[in-house]
Amino acid sequence: MSASETTGRDAEGDGLRGRVVLVTGSGHGLGAWIARASARRQARVVVNCRRDERRAGTLGSELQRTGCEALVCRADVTVFGEAQALVEEVLKAYGRVDVLVNTVGVFAWKPVAELDPAEWRAMMASNLDSVYNMSRLVIPPMRKNHFGRIVNLGAVGAERTVGHPKVSAYSAAKAAVIAFSKALALEEARCGITVNVVSPGVLVDGEESAHALDHTADRIPVGRPGSPEDVVRAVLFFYLGFLPVVAIQWQLNKNSCVLNNIESFLRHGSWRSEHNAEEGAWLMTLIRNVTGIALKPWQVDLITYGIMAVLWGLALWHLRGW
Ligand SMILES: NC(=O)c1ccc[n+]([C@@H]2O[C@H](COP(=O)([O-])OP(=O)(O)OC[C@H]3O[C@@H](n4cnc5c(N)ncnc54)[C@H](OP(=O)(O)O)[C@@H]3O)[C@@H](O)[C@H]2O)c1
Repeated sequence: MSASETTGRDAEGDGLRGRVVLVTGSGHGLGAWIARASARRQARVVVNCRRDERRAGTLGSELQRTGCEALVCRADVTVFGEAQALVEEVLKAYGRVDVLVNTVGVFAWKPVAELDPAEWRAMMASNLDSVYNMSRLVIPPMRKNHFGRIVNLGAVGAERTVGHPKVSAYSAAKAAVIAFSKALALEEARCGITVNVVSPGVLVDGEESAHALDHTADRIPVGRPGSPEDVVRAVLFFYLGFLPVVAIQWQLNKNSCVLNNIESFLRHGSWRSEHNAEEGAWLMTLIRNVTGIALKPWQVDLITYGIMAVLWGLALWHLRGW
């Protein structure tokens, strides 16, 4: 990595200033790239590893030298208890988790006929259990802040459950990560938490052999394998400034459908906008029958606008933190 990449915080703006970004499996590989890119955007970064604490510690020191707050935590995130201790340590240090990037996910070539139960379990634990463990643990503190971004690492073709020989366990686990993420995104959307998956293809710095790269490059439309920077850009898209706009737009569209229906009901006594009833007539009748007061049409209009203003206020308040 070049010096400008590791020390160029000033050039990157303050897109993540103060946000706490926890990257699992970030002592090495894509996780380390994501940790560096987050640090350059002034996040407080949590580096996590399982065994090689020295390597993770070196990265932590590198980030701190650039002025970033960094915490290095050893924890095997496939073990719920260790993942829990990791999240507790982060909450103790920073009081919050804003972004979780789940990069842990080992890979191995092996046909099913030679795959031991222990190897199958290890592949599922690394690629899938780790994602469940960490998501389960960060959701309560994210909900409390009505803000959270979870990004999981998939693999190319996983969303279409494309099968490749000798990678059955890995493919199954990554397809499950996508299904899990879609369900979780729907569950947490109202809590200000977004969940997305970035699925890298063959990477030049990745685990593919030179032979495999030669073999696959002609099947990649741009004619070259991806780079870690490509993956970092895609991952950051989901927790830098853009996504909230998309999320708010989606949420407002949803709210405005409901609110339009309510307005239609207030005006016409019907939830649908196709109606023939005279504007406000049913409301005038209702108020006259209940209170004996005969309102003029403009007064009914005023009441309708008042109610709608309060409802829109509540809808916008609901979106705070997006
Ligand atoms: N690289 C690629 O070409 C490629 C392509 C498609 C998808 N992906 C996906 O992208 C993600 C990252 O891949 P990568 O190749 O960058 O990974 P990698 O280099 O193998 O990442 C290793 C890092 O993960 C840590 N780690 C491993 N198991 C852990 C565990 N149970 N708990 C905590 N930390 C653990 C390691 O810590 P220790 O060293 O301390 O053990 C190390 O810091 C994976 O999900 C992978 O499936 C990668």
